[in-house]
Amino acid sequence: MAKITIAPDGQSFDCAPGDTILRAALRAGFGMNYSCNVGSCGNCRFELLEGAVTHQRADSPAWSERDLKRNRWLGCQAEPVGDCTIKFRADPSFVANPRPMGRSATLLAKTQLTRDITEFTLEIQGDDRFHPGQYALIGANGISGGRAYSMANLPGTGQWHFQIKRVPGGALTGWLFDSAEIGATLSLDGPYGTAFLQTEITRDIVLMAGGSGLSPMVSIARGAAKAGMLDTRKLHFYYGARTQADLFDPKLLADLGPNVTFTAALSEPEPGWDGPRGFLHDVVAADLGDRLPAHEIYFAGPAAMSAAIQKMAHELGTPMGQLHFDEFY
Ligand SMILES: Cc1cc2nc3c(=O)[nH]c(=O)nc-3n(C[C@H](O)[C@H](O)[C@H](O)COP(=O)(O)OP(=O)(O)OC[C@H]3O[C@@H](n4cnc5c(N)ncnc54)[C@H](O)[C@@H]3O)c2cc1C
Ligand code: FES
Repeated sequence: MAKITIAPDGQSFDCAPGDTILRAALRAGFGMNYSCNVGSCGNCRFELLEGAVTHQRADSPAWSERDLKRNRWLGCQAEPVGDCTIKFRADPSFVANPRPMGRSATLLAKTQLTRDITEFTLEIQGDDRFHPGQYALIGANGISGGRAYSMANLPGTGQWHFQIKRVPGGALTGWLFDSAEIGATLSLDGPYGTAFLQTEITRDIVLMAGGSGLSPMVSIARGAAKAGMLDTRKLHFYYGARTQADLFDPKLLADLGPNVTFTAALSEPEPGWDGPRGFLHDVVAADLGDRLPAHEIYFAGPAAMSAAIQKMAHELGTPMGQLHFDEFY
């Protein structure tokens, strides 16, 4: 067990063998900035003042020679080699509740939703609490590094459901789709993420999901309904995909009540499609226009989609604090 001391105030926490500094800090109740947990966004950067660390993911895209020269490392990838002293800007908005923990899980079911999205049902051990919109790191034997996947269901059943898009040539999705058998054991670490449902905010809700971003938006819609939020608010669920083969059965969103609308937009529809065409951000801008800033907005999907939505929302005058999102790398 390594002791990690935070400069300058001298508070400390333990980091277990195999754990990373970010995850150990969150488990111990410290607020450290982060987003992706897989070495891609750079939000978890800290300065190493004493001691040594190694990165679990040697090719972390968010880490450079310049960071190395300044002794800056990525908290989500840095594994301490002995005791360390580090410096980072503590941010109470990242204090985790519930606190993330590692546990094992059993694959109970695979249900195909679209051409390339399947829902994986895992029976989990231990505390199953999470906030709708949060994610966990899924790991499997023989695959280096956990991958982030958002839960689609709600807590309280001892199961976490993940709607996962197959990535051609992808290590973990290849294994999950092609090799993992019902009953297989996986490792899970979570919950993580701060882009979750804000139950106290009274604005109407807009959800935007692009492809692999479906899962957290489904969970947020279900969470809003369960919390009674949709008795007094409207919820618009927008889903962006390429063709009709990427559409899911609308029954997935059944039972959410009369205040929910659903719009699918296709960017490359085949003949016969009479719904909205184009990119999701353009469809939402055309639909809501200057009414968008009156909403609380959640979105998830590929980084390019996320950037386009942020730009569109900003141009329509939406305050950044009303946007909740994780970028999927
Ligand atoms: C916060 C977040 C939530 C996400 N939620 C979903 C979701 O709900 N559904 C969904 O389909 N996808 C989701 N993703 C994307 C998903 O995590 C994977 O990037 C994707 O499934 C590809 O994984 P792969 O192993 O098949 O592909 P690969 O090509 O093998 O890996 C691709 C990605 O895995 C990560 N990675 C690669 N090597 C390592 C390593 N050694 N250590 C750590 N990470 C590594 C990197 O992010 C990389 O871009 C999410 C991503 C993030 C960041
Ligand atoms: S690089 Fe560490 S949280 Fe994204």
